[in-house]
Amino acid sequence: MTTPPRTVSVPSADAPQRPGVAEPVLGVSGAVGSTPLVRLDRLFPNSGVEILAKLESVNPGGSTKDRPALAMVRDALDSGRLAAGGTVVESSSGNLGVALARVCTSYGVRFVCVVDSRTNATTVATIRALGGEIDLVSEPDPVSGDLLTARLRRVEQLKEEIPGAVNLFQYGNPANPAAHAAGTMREIAEALDHRLDVLMAAVSTTGTIAGCTAYLHEHRMDTRTVAVDAVGSVLFGGTPAPRPLPGLGAGVVTDISRGVSPDRVMRVDGLACVVGARLLARREGILAGASTGGIVHALGTLVRELTPGSHLAFIVHDGGVPYLETVYDDDWVRRTLGADPVAVDAATDALSSSARRG
Ligand SMILES: Cc1ncc(COP(=O)(O)O)c(C=O)c1O
Repeated sequence: MTTPPRTVSVPSADAPQRPGVAEPVLGVSGAVGSTPLVRLDRLFPNSGVEILAKLESVNPGGSTKDRPALAMVRDALDSGRLAAGGTVVESSSGNLGVALARVCTSYGVRFVCVVDSRTNATTVATIRALGGEIDLVSEPDPVSGDLLTARLRRVEQLKEEIPGAVNLFQYGNPANPAAHAAGTMREIAEALDHRLDVLMAAVSTTGTIAGCTAYLHEHRMDTRTVAVDAVGSVLFGGTPAPRPLPGLGAGVVTDISRGVSPDRVMRVDGLACVVGARLLARREGILAGASTGGIVHALGTLVRELTPGSHLAFIVHDGGVPYLETVYDDDWVRRTLGADPVAVDAATDALSSSARRG
């Protein structure tokens, strides 16, 4: 079934913020961005730090990747690199795939998404439901042993096989960080009158943290940036090792990451992501994905170091429903991370009390 292309309206970077006022927009892509920023007072009570969460999970595709997906497709169409009726081939651990499936469908563009065996079944089904095609890579790259490297090789193969296929290359495309500068960070900064002490974001392509940093520099804000990366990710000088959860970290040093220097890099393992995500769900009722769990775990350490009264914002990169069979499933956690439910509960309690002052 083919869907007629249509013009998608996107909120402009300088559109006024009108919280609570929902004006009609053309198409679901018009609903990307302007996500809620919520104050959390139950996550680490008595920490003395004001903690704010930017709920990128409420974007139409369920993740912050809606922003770069829209920006990269529009940029490729505007520049003539991609035409309606053309094909986009992209490597994605899931969220970009979901976002691109919808955007490509609305522009009448074929979309082939290269995923690997760690991608959640729900995410794969979502991409298909939105009209995307799945190309599954199940063997790691023989040289690096990394699945992301294997996915990138597969993208190159598909580009040769499909005439005129375009790879948007989220790992180096300037439209990726630009979408976060013009959207994610601008919205946070404007909501807080440009007063923010710390920004925390998880990293993969590093598009989010790079775009946010660009906005902070441009507006001369002295906000400290904290990148939360996976143990096993090679970003920012990390040592390669297997990473059990999708979406966090990278097996290759991305082009975008070469131009960004976070003030601090905090590394989290799979169990930390599980513990952080479960604490966020139980304390604040926010069901988030693995990388956000990693942020929450790192936050437990960070809040103890911050001066009381500091303002900190973190990104909720995606929602937790696609992780119900992993992060939130005791059997998966036992099998994959070797932690039994009692130990996970104990670690969750320990995380919550570790941040208490006095
Ligand atoms: C689950 C998840 N974690 C982390 C990130 C941050 O990734 P990046 O560094 O590619 O912006 C994203 C981006 O959308 C994401 O979807």
